Amino acid sequence: MSALDTILQLAYIVAAAFFVLGLHRMNSPATARSGNQLSAAGMTVAVAATVVLVATNPAQGLAWPIIVVGVVVGGGLGLYTARTIKMTDMPQLVSLFNAVGGGAAALIAIDDYVRLAGTVGAGGGAIDLQTVVASILDVLIGSVTFSGSLIASGKLQGLVTSRPVVFPLSRPLNVGLVVIALAGAAFLLAGNVSVPVLFVLILVALLFGVTLVMPIGGADMPVVISLLNAFTGTAVAMAGFVIGNATLITAGALVGASGGILTKLMADAMNRSILNIMVGGFGVGEAGAGAAVGGGPTGSVREINVDDAAIQLAYAQSVIIVPGYGLAVAQAQHSVRELADQLEEKGVGVKYAIHPVAGRMPGHMNVLLAEANVPYPQLYEMDDINPEFERTDVALVIGANDVTNPAARSNPASPIYGMPILNVDHARNIIVIKRSMRPGYAGIDNELYLDPKTGMLFGDAKDALTQLIGAVKAL
Ligand code: TAP
Repeated sequence: MSALDTILQLAYIVAAAFFVLGLHRMNSPATARSGNQLSAAGMTVAVAATVVLVATNPAQGLAWPIIVVGVVVGGGLGLYTARTIKMTDMPQLVSLFNAVGGGAAALIAIDDYVRLAGTVGAGGGAIDLQTVVASILDVLIGSVTFSGSLIASGKLQGLVTSRPVVFPLSRPLNVGLVVIALAGAAFLLAGNVSVPVLFVLILVALLFGVTLVMPIGGADMPVVISLLNAFTGTAVAMAGFVIGNATLITAGALVGASGGILTKLMADAMNRSILNIMVGGFGVGEAGAGAAVGGGPTGSVREINVDDAAIQLAYAQSVIIVPGYGLAVAQAQHSVRELADQLEEKGVGVKYAIHPVAGRMPGHMNVLLAEANVPYPQLYEMDDINPEFERTDVALVIGANDVTNPAARSNPASPIYGMPILNVDHARNIIVIKRSMRPGYAGIDNELYLDPKTGMLFGDAKDALTQLIGAVKAL
């Protein structure tokens, strides 16, 4: 190994170490930003090392200008989208990135296999087993991720229907696709070298990605995206085995493992199994809102106005703010911070209760409130804040619904039964800001709104908060 090779291998190890440290720093909102920067620095080192590797290898011809153009075009597009994307559109962007990652990983294996097939084919030899295994896995997982992620992104963007689409004969079709994939894989593993069979595998995997994601409701997409993210990581790790690149293996394994853990955590927080989500039919997204599940709670709703709410809040000793998806939609994070500041000036103790699946993506509320510079120590995880509700004067629920629904504790017939919730109903008084009595993501009524302690302040979260700020100020 030449001195340059040693330096490049060391650079790859440094890059991998940066990825691990970066991921570790993402454990807490306070260090997440620097974790992200550290990981980006690791990626810069890896890309620079690869450009040097290719530029100094005469066999690679003029590959390095292609890499540079790719970095400029891809990096430029990535930077532009990341800076202009709305926070609520983040899940579909992540899904597009997954598609690109899975597709790129599959292309690496396709390129490698086609080249090897050309060389060994001429001599009548075989491709070594390790490369064949990694190539097959890479092509299958990468292609499923590519088409599945494109469909997932389209569903969230409204380009593909967010309703679960179940084709007639979809089960036999899926079984047929798996059988063809297994037969093709077995044929290649038996020592046969065939590019057409590899392309059959790709086609089958692309189709499977579509039939896998189409039956899943739009609102379940975040969990699916997280799962596809884990697939992307696995495909990238396989690509690393194909071309013997340690950084790809490490980065892919990290993404695969963290995506897998995140998927499990999200499914657990919704009290659903990953299999139940993949089978589909639940959570038809905003399109399904309004179609509340029948047999829900009955009773009367107490509507309050801004002045009533302002008096309750300003004269309370303690307030817990419960943010949810509606706060994100209304982009009311700055207004909620302003209201909290006002209340604190009046001597009210303010805390925020963060449910792990409030909103539509992991960490949605943390990111949203961090954007408004809400101090981290005021954010409380569900298990830490739940015992405090009963000692709290007012729970102010803003655009949150399912994560506060007591049916999750008390009604075994409810689709969300067993999902851990914020114990908002234990507070002495409850104020709920939302626009109507429409249900949230799960499409079910919320008995919290019929609780005699609850006052409903109907309106858009941002408008209502702006009015509340004025009313509190005037007191
Ligand atoms: P939801 O239960 O979805 O309720 C959000 C509420 O916000 C709606 O009832 C809606 O009522 C209200 N809203 C919408 N726009 C508003 C606006 N402009 N101003 C005021 N209110 C507005 O939200 P949640 O409590 O945050 O729960 C999240 C749900 O998503 C859970 O069921 C969870 O399982 C699911 N989910 C979460 C994730 C992750 S990772 N976070 C992933 C997948 C699924 P109106 O229409 O009446 O205003």
